[in-house]
Amino acid sequence: MDAISAINHRKSIRAFNEKVPSDEDLLEIVKAAQKSPSWINSQPSRIVIAKGDKLNQIRKEHKNLNENPDIHTKSDIKFTPIKDWDIESQNNMSNKRKSDLEMFGNEFDNMKQIQANNLFDAPAVAYITLPSNYTEWSLYDAGAMGEALMIAAQDKGIDSMPAFEFIKYPDRLREHLNVQNRAFLLGIGLGFRDEGNPINKIEGNRMNLSDVVTIIK
Ligand SMILES: Cc1cc2nc3c(=O)[nH]c(=O)nc-3n(C[C@H](O)[C@H](O)[C@H](O)COP(=O)(O)O)c2cc1C
Repeated sequence: MDAISAINHRKSIRAFNEKVPSDEDLLEIVKAAQKSPSWINSQPSRIVIAKGDKLNQIRKEHKNLNENPDIHTKSDIKFTPIKDWDIESQNNMSNKRKSDLEMFGNEFDNMKQIQANNLFDAPAVAYITLPSNYTEWSLYDAGAMGEALMIAAQDKGIDSMPAFEFIKYPDRLREHLNVQNRAFLLGIGLGFRDEGNPINKIEGNRMNLSDVVTIIK
């Protein structure tokens, strides 16, 4: 698959089937993602991948934490409510909500919550971490690595799901995954899409090209 096709084929998958990507494929994907650029080649990101029993323990606990009304998210990067974003981003988020509701009706929030509680049934999750005292430049580097990882996965026919949902409870992840002094930026679910689950019909529409880019000569 060429790069443009892999980029265009990637979409967020919110329900995976039971097929598990091999360790060999996962390592190859991370090796490709390591080619992403970073500030003076500082290479600040690390990837820890959970699969099998370990991921199922995390998944079970995640559901319990999500369903406990006394527990609140304490992500390493602060959660920002929609009202505090710039107005154009707010409009895009509101358009997404409208199109999700048009497609699924009132069942949508329930469908989405079930998948979120079960970590989208992802058979593997790659967590991207940075040192606890990371600089803001490293956030750029980690994001670039995440996209490269998802595109490399797509090239192998492996679907992906980048999500805040995976890193809502980072203190628990540090314990489960034996990670110290590092911040959990994002989790990326990896596996194969469940073709039968309608939630995978969600399409992320994009703004008009002319509203995003300007060429000035
Ligand atoms: C940093 C980040 C966090 C995200 N967190 C979630 C999440 O917690 N739950 C979810 O359903 N989607 C999450 N997404 C997926 C976005 O909703 C999705 O990328 C966007 O709607 C565009 O759709 P597409 O990825 O299918 O092109 C996240 C994406 C990013 C980049």
